Amino acid sequence: MNVLGIETSCDETAAAVVADGGTVLSSAVFSQVPLHRPHGGVVPEIASRQHVEHLPRMLDEAMAQSGLEWSHLQAVAVTYGPGLASSLLVGLSAAKALALRLNIPLIGINHLEAHLYSVFLARNAPRYADACPLVALIVSGGHTCLVRVDAPGQYRRLGQTIDDAAGEAFDKGAKLLGLEYPGGPVIDHISALGDAGRIAFPRTRVLKADFADGLSPALCFSFSGLKTSLLYYLRDHPEAVREPVLKDVAAGYQEAIVDVLVRGAQRALQRERVQTLVVAGGVSLNRRLRSRLLDMAAGLKVSVLLPASSYCVDNAAMVAGLAGIGQGITGEAAWSLDACPNLEIGG
Ligand code: KG4
Ligand code: ZN
Repeated sequence: MNVLGIETSCDETAAAVVADGGTVLSSAVFSQVPLHRPHGGVVPEIASRQHVEHLPRMLDEAMAQSGLEWSHLQAVAVTYGPGLASSLLVGLSAAKALALRLNIPLIGINHLEAHLYSVFLARNAPRYADACPLVALIVSGGHTCLVRVDAPGQYRRLGQTIDDAAGEAFDKGAKLLGLEYPGGPVIDHISALGDAGRIAFPRTRVLKADFADGLSPALCFSFSGLKTSLLYYLRDHPEAVREPVLKDVAAGYQEAIVDVLVRGAQRALQRERVQTLVVAGGVSLNRRLRSRLLDMAAGLKVSVLLPASSYCVDNAAMVAGLAGIGQGITGEAAWSLDACPNLEIGG
């Protein structure tokens, strides 16, 4: 089945064609990052207008690269949440119009489930169903959660952040350090030269008292205290925004984020007794996080599935891929889908 995927949940305008859930025929992504950078973060009004302007071009590019005709498509899949409401609506409206015009099914896809699926787009990856049961750590700019997956579509949320997402912690930390948006790649880069042990930043533990959702506090994350401690450190050490100290501050800050993510993932794997860890979302690009997770998992004899770098950040191949294996909202329910900015994964 050839599926056209559309992704406009945040600041990437993307379209892709994927055959049978796993063969990526094309993946076109327009990154709006340079347009949001001067504002230090994503500006929703700019994002939605950019989607309106660039989505037609991404659709043409995805179709041209795929070598297919419009008539060769069998479904249109689109992210309907979570994300920015006004951005999601652009993709959703375009997808409905296209599916109607082509007279083919519309499939609504959860962005977090699509991120998770991104690891199965790799050529040597196992089939999704064969890799289950598994634990997934989804780490992006807007979300950070641990999910147990018993089969495709059967998700149980184990833990999540109670304040900032991991990507947000990178982005806000970088802003305090005077570094450009998005902060994750910059901190990743600078930290490689730094001494992570020189400045000790806090590793916040989530207590029962912080939490009302019935999830296990031991599998939850909190990053807002870390950001505040960086703020106080810089107030007391203003020279730390410059070298030679900057790289050590960045490395120490990154290590604190990575530590709590690795600790959470380890606890989840031990509790759930599964043999596979999936790591996905923009922060899964982080080199230190990758290597620490691989070491931890090797110690537990657990295998780790990571996305190819082009599928870590938002893209439409993961959307079309997941729809191609029969997941997502279909039928009449898809036609009445509205944008769901707060959509979750695993209830
Ligand atoms: O998944 P994504 O493209 O968008 C959301 O769905 O939110 O993730 C974007 C996030 C940003 O916060 C960015 O700083 C972070 O991913 N990121 C990284 C790295 N590359 C991107 N964080 C840490 N290290 C990286 N190398
Ligand atoms: Zn994302």
